[in-house]
Amino acid sequence: MKKQSDLTPGRVTFQEGRGNLPMMEISTAWSMAEIYLHGAHVTHFQKKGEPPLLFLSQCSRFEDGKPIRGGVPIIFPWFGAREGLGQHGLVRNQAWQLKEVAPAVDGSVSVKFHFPDCPAAATWPPFLAEYVVTVNEHLTLELIVTNKSATDNFEFEECLHTYFFVQDITAVSVHGLQGVTYLDKTANQAQKVEAEEEIRISSEVDRTYLDTAGTVAIRDARIGRAIRVEKENSASTVVWNPWVAKAQQMTDFGNEEYCNMVCVESGNVASNKIILPPGASSSLKVTLSSAALA
Ligand code: BG6
Repeated sequence: MKKQSDLTPGRVTFQEGRGNLPMMEISTAWSMAEIYLHGAHVTHFQKKGEPPLLFLSQCSRFEDGKPIRGGVPIIFPWFGAREGLGQHGLVRNQAWQLKEVAPAVDGSVSVKFHFPDCPAAATWPPFLAEYVVTVNEHLTLELIVTNKSATDNFEFEECLHTYFFVQDITAVSVHGLQGVTYLDKTANQAQKVEAEEEIRISSEVDRTYLDTAGTVAIRDARIGRAIRVEKENSASTVVWNPWVAKAQQMTDFGNEEYCNMVCVESGNVASNKIILPPGASSSLKVTLSSAALA
């Protein structure tokens, strides 16, 4: 971090983003970020002198009721497919409310969002979902869920579905998951154990690693960058790359874009779902940072 005397205060500007959706641009002494109210979706984070940290598809939709492809979709209160319901929850497709913009004396900027009451949420037990994004040399994301019921537990899944930008997927390795049990969605959710210290991606990968709280690193030999994904209160990590055939099937994703992204998603899903007692809150927190490859 810089010395306090070197710091310029963070700035926030409100703009009309893509698809005429409201967007805020945050600029700090170290970095720039863009956040849409739609989904409280961080679509961009870039440190000065580095390529973007997050991948955003050139083909993404920016439309009410549709998810943005890239950045950090918030997945809640369910992960994946649910019979009769859409994929990956209900909060990524709707505008959140901005509650607070807090530039700090150290040059960081934090913004806080609430998920509003809406017909889709009304079919769920009563909850409050808040999201705090802090921008400085790092990007810190915190999803806080409160069970507002006085009598019943609230069971849910949650995930910060982060798309990282990489220069060339064939020069990328993912570290920190060796020995962890995972469900392999490309093999009918077969349960396997990760054998590799250095996971390389050369075909479709869609894995839910369970009971793993450790930091994950993404090493990109082309950019010469190591990204760290540090988690608090996250027991699951999902690693996803659609590869060639699935990329071609996705209408909001370019055919070649699988080369420039990898999702390393932090959350609590499947057997790691959260069961929150009445009145209780839980916080899922992720800090994303980067440094030159050693
Ligand atoms: C990942 C899932 O988290 O998200 C994949 O494990 C899924 O199975 C991917 O394909 C993208 O989902 P969506 O709904 O954004 O297309």
